[in-house]
Amino acid sequence: MSISLKILTEADKEACETVKVSEEEISLGKKKLFIESYGCQMNFSDSEIVASVMRGAGFATTASEQDADLIFLNTCAIRDNAEQKVRNRLKQLNHLKKKKPGMLIGVLGCMAERLKAKLLEEEKMVDIVTGPDAYRDLPRLIEEAETGQKAVNVLLSREETYADISPIRLNSNGVTAFISIMRGCNNMCSFCVVPFTRGRERSRDPHSIVREARELFEQGYREVTLLGQNVDSYRYKSPDDNGETYDFATLLGMVAQVHPDLRVRFSTSHPKDITDEVLYAMKKYDNVCNYIHLPAQSGNSRILELMNRTYDRAWYMQKIDRIRAILGEDCGISHDMITGFCTETEEEHQDTLSLMEYVRYDYGYMFAYSERPGTPAAKKLTDDIPYDIKLRRLNEVIAVQQRHSLERNQRLVGRVHRVLVEGTSKRSDSDLQGRNDQNKVVVFPRENFKKGDYVNVLVTECTAATLIGHAVIELTADC
Ligand code: SAH
Ligand code: SF4
Ligand code: F3S
Repeated sequence: MSISLKILTEADKEACETVKVSEEEISLGKKKLFIESYGCQMNFSDSEIVASVMRGAGFATTASEQDADLIFLNTCAIRDNAEQKVRNRLKQLNHLKKKKPGMLIGVLGCMAERLKAKLLEEEKMVDIVTGPDAYRDLPRLIEEAETGQKAVNVLLSREETYADISPIRLNSNGVTAFISIMRGCNNMCSFCVVPFTRGRERSRDPHSIVREARELFEQGYREVTLLGQNVDSYRYKSPDDNGETYDFATLLGMVAQVHPDLRVRFSTSHPKDITDEVLYAMKKYDNVCNYIHLPAQSGNSRILELMNRTYDRAWYMQKIDRIRAILGEDCGISHDMITGFCTETEEEHQDTLSLMEYVRYDYGYMFAYSERPGTPAAKKLTDDIPYDIKLRRLNEVIAVQQRHSLERNQRLVGRVHRVLVEGTSKRSDSDLQGRNDQNKVVVFPRENFKKGDYVNVLVTECTAATLIGHAVIELTADC
């Protein structure tokens, strides 16, 4: 059993609770593909690569599972409940398949990689199983499945970055987009399944990243988020360019220079690897947003060691101090935290709460520990904290975060924020919503503004999740 909760903006909550589904394309007699994506942004971004590969194979995407000739579930394996969601969905799809026997079902992504061919034995309706590094092979796998055979490719690669594939943007607001800059993870956090499902870390050619950012800007996008499990270990040694090596700080600068009106965000940073150079690059370029997602996982050094995070409480606090010293009090900081990891005592849990008091995070993604088969923790440690205790600790962590989120937002009331408009507010058609530099959602009356505009908004009130205000005519914004 496991539960996962997070406190974020309404939009983010929605993204967490709902799955992403492909959109209707004009199909002109092409076969129809329905893709449903679960898990993290990396997975959503991979679905855009998959849509591109499949377009090459003559498929158009559809928003209706009933109309589909082929259904892909791009899955997540991070916690047990992520997998249960997929299992339940497969049961539903089985009913549909009985009515439409020619329809094929493929399971892609991290759960496919974790379970491999075993998934075909456990879920009889599945025709295709494909891991995250094998998406180029999908057209062949589909041909194989069309002959009535089961098709599997779960080979992990040391090189694949899909650098040459132009993603087809799915669920896009036309303003913000994600760019994968690396794949895999070389860390071995003991609780985590990602190194097993996504393989070794590899970085993508920086020139292809800059090209993608430039194309997005030319198409009207105004914000890109550079994605990787650990962006601070980005490192690309060019086979041309006299073997020049690019690190993450360099890459940030390159993307920032695409255009001053293109905002640049990135996720996720690892406390062991984030450098002063990255912080100085954020300071140097106004369009690199002042927001850092810096997962802590625990505030206790013994637990951090058991988790193999390779930093301790003091190291983490010192990183926070550097962020504040270089980027100031306004820089947004968010975290991931796990409660009830193996052998965690009440005192150690208190250390997590006190770390949160020290940092005063803007947001948090908080989870009860869920043991994942095959991980170092599952092999060497005992998952000995009862579920109700994990949950009680999780609720305590959430309560502290809620207080801090509200407090951090209240500091920003009475100030003008430069907001990039992402669309209509969820609550009212007469309001727009966008984000400020620190990734906080800002809602304000529409007037004559539109998606993609930068608007200076005076914030007059707030909740823990949203800043509320109205547009002002000002030449400078202080946030
Ligand atoms: N690469 C990122 C995290 C990727 S997974 C990093 O290193 O921070 C996203 C988050 O899921 C993790 O930060 C962790 O908080 C949570 N998570 C991962 N494995 C988990 C598990 N077994 N149980 C509960 N939460 C987990
Ligand atoms: Fe998992 Fe750790 Fe890698 Fe993040 S850094 S993906 S938590 S192993
Ligand atoms: Fe992402 Fe889930 Fe895989 S969080 S990397 S889709 S296990």
